[in-house]
Amino acid sequence: MRLSRRALLERWWVLPVAGTLGAFGYMGWYASRVTWGKERVGPPDFQPGKAVRVAALEALAEEWTEVAFQYAGRPCVALRVPGPVPGGLSVGDAHYAAYSRVCTHLGCAVNLVRDPEVLAFAYNYRPPPGERHPQLGCPCHFSVFDPLQGGVAVFGKANAPLPRVRLEARGQDLYATGIEPAPALGT
Ligand code: FES
Repeated sequence: MRLSRRALLERWWVLPVAGTLGAFGYMGWYASRVTWGKERVGPPDFQPGKAVRVAALEALAEEWTEVAFQYAGRPCVALRVPGPVPGGLSVGDAHYAAYSRVCTHLGCAVNLVRDPEVLAFAYNYRPPPGERHPQLGCPCHFSVFDPLQGGVAVFGKANAPLPRVRLEARGQDLYATGIEPAPALGT
């Protein structure tokens, strides 16, 4: 069916309306994906590796102290955390967790962001009031991972959790003895 020029002119509004609806649809999809569409953390899937000394336990005497180390060729971070963490290590009343620092979005190195105001203004992430603690943040596209929830991605473009590192206490030292497989980036 051929439309007359007049009929076409009468329908000119269809294009901007369709474009606007498409843009809002995309924004809604994207907002739900970065906020809710995250992979959950399952039971640890550690691949055993050689034991690598991370630090003396006393180097992590205070809550939220951190030690960076390398494991299986990946940059990692060990944290003293305030409570037990899925896949973490508890020694008496002391709790530890360790993660690969390779962001599961596109592979930049995540850092511990201690200030909730930085998370709010730089990362646009405002956790619920009971969850205002340091988070692992990626400076490239501002994904946020929760170290108290097994490294789950809680905000941003990353969907997969950070791979966890298995920790063991040997004497007065903390060792890494395995790590979860790295997920495919960008998924
Ligand atoms: Fe980390 Fe994109 S590389 S959010």
